Amino acid sequence: MREENKILYINACVREESRTRRLAERVLSHLQGEVTELNLEALSLRPLNRESLARREALLAAGDRSDPMLAPALAFAAADEIVLAAPYWDLSFPASVKTWIEHINCIGISFAYGPYDRPYGLCRAKRLFYVMTAGRPIMPANSGFAQLRELCTCFYGIPETVLFAAQGLDLRGADVEAILSDTAERIDKWFRDQKI
Ligand SMILES: Cc1cc2nc3c(=O)[nH]c(=O)nc-3n(C[C@H](O)[C@H](O)[C@H](O)COP(=O)(O)O)c2cc1C
Repeated sequence: MREENKILYINACVREESRTRRLAERVLSHLQGEVTELNLEALSLRPLNRESLARREALLAAGDRSDPMLAPALAFAAADEIVLAAPYWDLSFPASVKTWIEHINCIGISFAYGPYDRPYGLCRAKRLFYVMTAGRPIMPANSGFAQLRELCTCFYGIPETVLFAAQGLDLRGADVEAILSDTAERIDKWFRDQKI
């Protein structure tokens, strides 16, 4: 029997009326399998500090993966599909996403080092969907998305990163619903074209 597709939904949306979440839900509606949501607001991960970093290194060295501290990394590495919903904050993503990245970057779980110290990925997913909305135009570098994409290709072994972005939502006179439905249509089209 084929194992069910494991979909990991990383929800970094903060506002009750989040537009990013609406678009992420559109992406999720196209995916089939068991969805596990990691709500970063509710999870309140803490940035690594001297003590937690040392504790994590001790756990990894001992091969002990039962500690809840390693759960975000284990879930990330085991997922078949990943959807990350992150509003555009301060030209990047919310700090909760950076903290989550610190927690999933575990040597021996999400990546490892091979010959010549080259990192190679240990993650199962073939693709990560990055969903974002921005109040103004997104800067050409799109640094939050670029960071995730580079981590996926250089470290996690996730070859494809798909960006769905809506921008200009907070500009005076913006037709928010039109921008969102245009982005939703692009999402639908992407899935139609992929036939997944
Ligand atoms: C703390 C904070 C920082 C923001 N920084 C930016 C920014 O740098 N550039 C921008 O275009 N919009 C910025 N915005 C606006 C949001 O990107 C925009 O409102 C987005 O649609 C919010 O997503 P949400 O509806 O899912 O909460 C910021 C909003 C907040 C609350």
